[in-house]
Amino acid sequence: MTAPVKHDDKHVAWRGRAESVEAERTSAELDDAAAIKRLRSRSRSLLGWMMRPHRRAIAFLVGILVVQNFASMAAPILVMVAIDSGIPAVRDDGDYSILVGIGVAFAVSAVLEYVSLRLYIVQSAKVGNAMLYALRNRVFWKFQRLSVSFHERFTSGRVTARQSSDMESIREMTENGMDDLVMAGLNIITITVVMLVIDPLLAAVTLLTFPLMVMLAKWFSRVSAIAYRRARETVAVLIVYFVESMGGIRAVQAYRREERDKEIFAKLNTDNRHAQAKGHHQNAFMSGGMKGIGHLATVVVLLFGGWQVMQGNTGVGVLAAFLLYMKRFFDPLNELVQFYNVLQSATAALEKLSGVVDEEIEVAEPDEPRSIECPRGEVRFDEVEFYYREDQRVLPGLSLHIPGGQTVALVGATGAGKTTVAKLVSRFYDPRGGTISLDGVDLRDLAEADLRDNVVMITQENFLFNGTIAENIELGKPGATREEIVEAAEVVGAHEFIEALPDGYDTHVRKRGGRLSAGQRQLVVFARAFLADPRVLILDEATSSLDIPSERLVQRALRTILADRTAIIIAHRLSTVEIADRVLVLEAGRITEDGPPEALIASGGDYAELHRQWEDSLV
Ligand SMILES: Nc1ncnc2c1ncn2[C@@H]1O[C@H](COP(=O)(O)OP(=O)(O)OP(=O)(O)O)[C@@H](O)[C@H]1O
Ligand SMILES: [Mg+2]
Repeated sequence: MTAPVKHDDKHVAWRGRAESVEAERTSAELDDAAAIKRLRSRSRSLLGWMMRPHRRAIAFLVGILVVQNFASMAAPILVMVAIDSGIPAVRDDGDYSILVGIGVAFAVSAVLEYVSLRLYIVQSAKVGNAMLYALRNRVFWKFQRLSVSFHERFTSGRVTARQSSDMESIREMTENGMDDLVMAGLNIITITVVMLVIDPLLAAVTLLTFPLMVMLAKWFSRVSAIAYRRARETVAVLIVYFVESMGGIRAVQAYRREERDKEIFAKLNTDNRHAQAKGHHQNAFMSGGMKGIGHLATVVVLLFGGWQVMQGNTGVGVLAAFLLYMKRFFDPLNELVQFYNVLQSATAALEKLSGVVDEEIEVAEPDEPRSIECPRGEVRFDEVEFYYREDQRVLPGLSLHIPGGQTVALVGATGAGKTTVAKLVSRFYDPRGGTISLDGVDLRDLAEADLRDNVVMITQENFLFNGTIAENIELGKPGATREEIVEAAEVVGAHEFIEALPDGYDTHVRKRGGRLSAGQRQLVVFARAFLADPRVLILDEATSSLDIPSERLVQRALRTILADRTAIIIAHRLSTVEIADRVLVLEAGRITEDGPPEALIASGGDYAELHRQWEDSLV
């Protein structure tokens, strides 16, 4: 019975694909004119932000390109003059002056071209690099500040895509695209003008091949846009699937999903391969086609020009100049059309990055932050309404007052909203209605630093950063001494296991603390929190992965840790709740019972029932 499961997996993969692709749409893929306009103006303003500091350098670069363009345009004219005037002068009068003059002019234009090209490459790389540097920092910093709710929506695969493939597209454009674009534009204009000036009739005949070229370019930009979009979609899905599969590698292996994941990945990978292949075919046709038209133009010039020369209407030199210009005309054009894809992907990347940069920070630092002089740790909820999705109210209107120094246990069924309350106190989200305050200051007005100093939340996901144990504990109080770190570890009962590690406090924890057991990670996080010494400490299921002896140990420590601060403890195991001064029973976002544990047990309500069940489970 593996078939239905497979079907299911694919279904999930395809649904994921549809969602991520939908969210990743760019202006080239939208039908809504207003949305397209918004997207374009958004990315233009980001581009403006990137270019603004380099305005002068960019103007200078364009200047260099113009110089280089003129220098390279000189050669065919010089050849023309040499053939039509220089050689006859030598032949008829033995006068070498024109040829010598042309030799000198050739040398000058060659030097000029060399110098300007070199200057251009160095300078443009510098500017491109600087712009990319600023953009990378800005996007990283923005991702850092964006609230938790944003990151819940925006998958890690998409974050990765922003910092990797999107940045890469923009780098490609700044590095080897811009000059193609400007050069090709300049070339088309100057060559057309020069040809019209030196021989209007021949120029007019040559220009007859242009409509063919325009048609080919139009066809290519249309079909390649489609193929390119398909390639980009498939690679986006591939990245998202890859990141998500790797992120859940433990679950993948635990459930023996490797084979199925491999199959799905191979399927997505095949899609991408086909899409890329199609693009390559079109590119090949385009390149060949452009070359063909270039040759056709050459043939036209050769035949018509040759005939004109025979008629004595024009010089051999003019014919030579035209032939040389043909080459200079079509080669960059060919590159330019190839560059179309780079430009498209950079535009798309810019649109998506500008989306991130423009994303509003829901939980923003206040304009005029207030601080708390003398923190007491008094928490107040005033008619707090909250939901993640509008159709599902998690807190319908919660009012709650926790005086400073009180230890409160929050109990209630799964999904009652306990974690939500904890996250609101930590200001991971702002309430949709009502206010939450700390020591009388609305959290929305409170300075970010004060909030982080005063409120610390410990959850089950004990995140350790790549680094040593000591560094991980020190995060609680940057700059703490080794003595302070060891003391914190001793208080929470982590010292012994840390000492037993190969390098003690200097042991590296590796990726997300994968080297430590869940309980050990938790103890390290406890030590970190103890060192941070916040006024309000929130423990959300924080002791649930400890074994009974460790939990006992931590509980003893907890009494010390919680002694003179406000604490909100969320636990399904009532043993942790025993140390609380007050118990709150939460049911569907409402407080149904509130009082000291003994009083609640005596009153015979829900908590009493919970407590009775828990006691039964112990025997
Ligand atoms: N990020 C989220 N997005 C959407 N809904 C959410 C999110 N987090 C929680 N919810 C929903 O909000 C409600 C309350 O969740 P919450 O995590 O606060 O419950 P809890 O009391 O902590 O439960 P548990 O005891 O299982 O930890 C649940 O119905 C849950 O489905
Ligand atoms: Mg919870």
